Amino acid sequence: MHTILLTGGAGFIGSHLTRLFVRKYPNYTIVNLDKLTYAGNLENLRDIENEPNYRFIKGDITDLGLLRNLFSTHKFTAVLHCAAESHVDRSITDPLAFINTNVLGTASLLQAAKEAWAGDYENKIFYHISTDEVYGTLGETGFFTEDTAYDPRSPYSASKASSDHIVRAFYHTYKMPVKISNCSNNYGPYHFPEKLIPLCIHNIINNKPLPIYGKGENVRDWLFVEDHVRAIDVIFHNGKIGETYNIGGHNEWTNINLVKELCRQMDDKLGRAKGSSEKLITYVTDRAGHDLRYAIDASKLKNELGWMPSLQFEEGISKTIDWYLANTEWLTHVTSGEYQHYYTEQYHKR
Ligand code: NAD
Ligand code: TYD
Repeated sequence: MHTILLTGGAGFIGSHLTRLFVRKYPNYTIVNLDKLTYAGNLENLRDIENEPNYRFIKGDITDLGLLRNLFSTHKFTAVLHCAAESHVDRSITDPLAFINTNVLGTASLLQAAKEAWAGDYENKIFYHISTDEVYGTLGETGFFTEDTAYDPRSPYSASKASSDHIVRAFYHTYKMPVKISNCSNNYGPYHFPEKLIPLCIHNIINNKPLPIYGKGENVRDWLFVEDHVRAIDVIFHNGKIGETYNIGGHNEWTNINLVKELCRQMDDKLGRAKGSSEKLITYVTDRAGHDLRYAIDASKLKNELGWMPSLQFEEGISKTIDWYLANTEWLTHVTSGEYQHYYTEQYHKR
């Protein structure tokens, strides 16, 4: 039995995690605390919002007073910490927002949990969801393991690395029952169209340019979001306290090849002439400090807890495109308003 404080549940990964836990564990209570920034959207949770074991609270993880009240009211036994500022390009424009939410927010959650649990850690878990970007960048070979030294290079990855360090500090210093996972790039339904895959799907639908940073040779290791939250479920229940687990898809793509695959599948699905979407590809000024390659060695998770990705990439991408084509209303909602301003600022200067 758990009463879980799940932060950032209205975001991309958080909404999939909330759905999995609410449906799979009817005996758990899931309290979703989310500030509803531009990236948080309660439409992502429509199908489960009335479930009896689910509750939503709008609030900020940096608000220690609020966190203390919530711990006191709900007597949480676990924290699943997903809330973050998550987009590298935005971190280049506004680093302090990332340090505030990702560093101070995580520290505030740890502090509130430490005070509420007061050394009684029986059946308690503080699970911190993090990224492979904390390890920095790889050359053309090699993989990130759990022992790879941290070497973050963007304000986003540096803020996530800081938060990982603070979580470990609470484990070593106060014996807090923490778990951390560092995952590679996710894709799937409800992904906000500022990130490469949903941005390109949105632009292909609307016949708009597909902006490729630099030469498109940067490599990412893509994992279907439902496989990520399944891994979190396994680690939450069976992972060891104080341990870190890498999660990845063993699925590396250069950006240009990935976008070409998207174009190929979308021409097919939209009934467009072969090769027509590829004509939208536009090379633009590279991202500052652009990490060359990320690739995860997830063998610890496979060997110790038996987790493996379930979907082949072509199948996952096909499912993802189908979801966006069937949910144009969602896409219209999230790309109206603030998004237009962001898009102009981000791309018209490149
Ligand atoms: P997202 O940007 O889609 O969602 C973040 C959510 O956090 C939003 O609902 C937002 O409203 C909420 N939030 C932001 N600041 C908050 C605050 N101060 N207080 C309360 N809520 C706040 O992010 P995502 O892609 O779902 O990522 C979730 C987590 O997973 C992050 O910690 C991220 O670092 C990590 N991660 C993401 C990826 C990826 O590919 N997206 C990969 C590995 C790890
Ligand atoms: P992104 O989805 O932002 O994830 P991350 O930076 O966390 O890996 O970007 C994935 C890759 O795609 C990254 O190498 C940057 C590149 N990219 C583009 O080429 N064009 C774009 O418009 C965006 C958003 C990303």
